Amino acid sequence: MPKPTIVCVCGTRPDTIKMAPVVLALRQFSDLVDTVLVSTGQHREMLDQALAAFGMRADVDLGIMTHGQTLAQVTSRAIEGIDAVLAERQPQWVVAQGDTTTTFVASLAAFYRRIPFAHVEAGLRTDSLTNPFPEEMNRRVTGILTSVHFPPTSRAAENLRREGVPDEISVTTGNTGIDALLRMVVPEDIWFPEHQGPLLLVTTHRRENWGEPQRGIAAALRNILAAQPDALAIVPMHKNPMVRELLQSELGEHPQVRLVDPPDYPEFVALMKRCTLVLTDSGGVQEEAPSFGKPILVLRETTERPEGVTAGVSKLVGTDPEVITRETLALLTNPDAYTAMANTRSPYGDGRASDRIRRVLLGRLGFETPEVEPWT
Ligand code: UD1
Ligand code: UDP
Repeated sequence: MPKPTIVCVCGTRPDTIKMAPVVLALRQFSDLVDTVLVSTGQHREMLDQALAAFGMRADVDLGIMTHGQTLAQVTSRAIEGIDAVLAERQPQWVVAQGDTTTTFVASLAAFYRRIPFAHVEAGLRTDSLTNPFPEEMNRRVTGILTSVHFPPTSRAAENLRREGVPDEISVTTGNTGIDALLRMVVPEDIWFPEHQGPLLLVTTHRRENWGEPQRGIAAALRNILAAQPDALAIVPMHKNPMVRELLQSELGEHPQVRLVDPPDYPEFVALMKRCTLVLTDSGGVQEEAPSFGKPILVLRETTERPEGVTAGVSKLVGTDPEVITRETLALLTNPDAYTAMANTRSPYGDGRASDRIRRVLLGRLGFETPEVEPWT
């Protein structure tokens, strides 16, 4: 009998980082199953960086990215490309992670070809279909098209249960992003080793923050840095020109700001380890920074990652400059407030998520695997 094939799909920086451990876990069983990594190439440099961090290459790269691409362009180019791969490879399963357009399109392409789809990082929800945009729609629609759900936390599992997903097709795994983090060899002393004062790590790229909200974030940074003359803000700039132009015009000349190109993943992890605190609208960074005991101020109105807020390691501060300034200065000037948030226990995973996923998928293909203990 020919070996079954699992097609894993990625396309952007975060879904690549979080799919890499799953692909590596499946490839340990290459005598049983062929694992094909398909990249839509929705991102280019940032995706290549992410793959390089794991010493991986895509087996198929659809190379769809264009500069200033619209959501409709990404969707239409990706679905044609993925569909052609599915037609050629005839996989038994398609797997993708998270809430990007690549993920949503992978689930739709699998559905059209009646191939079961497994969703990694399933069940994250906010209460608004349009926030984050378009990710909340992407993950909800993907959820409808999914045959096996891998929620990262019990909260995400509960969201799925509320939507009527039966427990038999939902396994709580922990987040594969923590598996990725634990695999990295983190370089030492590469980020301003001589700098004594506070070091703020700032990232912002979300569509709903483009324009005015990001101007608010920049204004807050100027206020914070004026009040803390020995502080430095490191701002890795996403490759999106919309984001870069605004950050460069608002903060490019500031003597306490370092606008940098996106560091490779291991270097970015080193930066999370090195910084004093994190200001971010990123999903992945909200999950990773608690592993290093760094307080996180979330530059968004809603979060689908409430576990960090509940655990007290992150706080939703939105994009109002006054609120961001107040909350950041409170952490920088009040050691008790800082210590209360610098909790090192990650509520997001134990580093074994991809192994759980691998076991469930092999089990679904009919191979004998030990019982999977869900992550709690
Ligand atoms: C995408 C995801 C978002 C995720 C983010 C992670 C969607 C709709 N959005 O948003 O959920 O949080 O990735 O970073 O799936 N660009 C480059 N080089 C790159 C990457 C991007 O030049 O390596 C530029 C291109 O001009 C591209 C633009 O950024 O057109 C936007 O990329 P796109 O993937 O459409 O949106 P993101 O904002 O990156
Ligand atoms: N990251 C990185 N370099 C950077 C910024 C982020 O390697 O300059 C990593 C980060 O550690 C996390 C992922 O990229 O694993 C998050 O990606 P992003 O913030 O672009 O997307 P989101 O998680 O918000 O969808």
